[in-house]
Amino acid sequence: MNNNKKTLRLLYGGKSAEHEVSMRTALSVINALNFTKFNVFPVYISKAGKWFTGPQINGKIKNINELIFTENGHDQSIIPAQFFASITDDEVVFPLLHGPNGEDGTVQGLLELLNVAYVGNGVAASAVGMDKVFMKQVFAQHGLTQPNYVYFMRQEWNEDQEQVCSKIETTLGYPCFVKPANLGSSVGISKCMSKDDLKQAMNLAYEYDRKVIVEEGIVGREIEIAVLGNDEPRCSIAGEIVPKTDFYDYNAKYEDDSTDLLIPAKVSETVYEQLTEMSIKAFQAIDGSGLVRADFFVTEQDDIYINEINTMPGFTPVSMYPLLWKQSGLEYSELIESLVDLAIERHVEQQKIKHTME
Ligand SMILES: Nc1ncnc2c1ncn2[C@@H]1O[C@H](COP(=O)(O)OP(=O)(O)O)[C@@H](O)[C@H]1O
Ligand SMILES: [Mg+2]
Repeated sequence: MNNNKKTLRLLYGGKSAEHEVSMRTALSVINALNFTKFNVFPVYISKAGKWFTGPQINGKIKNINELIFTENGHDQSIIPAQFFASITDDEVVFPLLHGPNGEDGTVQGLLELLNVAYVGNGVAASAVGMDKVFMKQVFAQHGLTQPNYVYFMRQEWNEDQEQVCSKIETTLGYPCFVKPANLGSSVGISKCMSKDDLKQAMNLAYEYDRKVIVEEGIVGREIEIAVLGNDEPRCSIAGEIVPKTDFYDYNAKYEDDSTDLLIPAKVSETVYEQLTEMSIKAFQAIDGSGLVRADFFVTEQDDIYINEINTMPGFTPVSMYPLLWKQSGLEYSELIESLVDLAIERHVEQQKIKHTME
């Protein structure tokens, strides 16, 4: 009997467009875990946002369906606050959730409130990382070079579309990228070459958010760096995304095999140094913890623009983040263990904070 065995609660699924991606991640993580080190318990969140627990997982799993628990299956849905209130100090929650309602600080807030150790970024870091406008404002404050952008609330768009369009045309021109402020996986994102494109793109983006950001199009390679750590974050080698489509859209990400990941990316030592410097700066700018993936555009002239950071990047073994670490010498299962250790480290640190004036 191993007394140092940690209990790991995996949170996956989620009320999110990235539900399926999360399911695949959960399967991969489970199959990489060392069951002599961890007691593993699943917590499935349905697309409707209901939470379900399942029995302890003691070995590898073949099918995603084995991870889906609903009213008709193993257990009744739980009340998250009640459930997590009863978990003990030596347990760690690993939210394998992407996008809104998971990567955006909401789940993190719940876990924080309940004083539970959890993997990854905290409330503010997650929220800022999820909202592309807030993220860019914070980056600007820290002197990070990024594409020019403007943003508009739905109300402004509804009131005067012509004025919004002309503002975009005069400040950015074409091509430009239209994005819902709070989403991921390229959902609702369009590349626009004309005013007609722009109008369509804006209307589409407002279906997903009441805040829409528009950016100048950058012509460059897409290079990514994986960051791991808390107070002393470290960087992986660089990787390049080579989409065969016009840009790295949802299909290129998840539906087809049209994207190549080039690891290591072919960048000069100087560029790599700048990339890591900017990655750390971005991580610290949002007060990151655990992990982020920092994404850049690198132009022909080696000008570097930060595109975004992801506070819960794609995490299957064939995703960029784990692959970058693998080729930097950290295997998938070791990476998971590092993240759990970092979660505990931060939780212990948190406990030292005074909450009264005594
Ligand atoms: N300003 C830009 N210039 C050029 N390409 C862009 C720009 N913004 C986004 N893209 C393309 O769109 C993709 C998705 O945009 P991104 O902001 O990364 O959204 P998501 O958060 O959904 O990943 C990028 O990977 C890139 O291919
Ligand atoms: Mg992206």
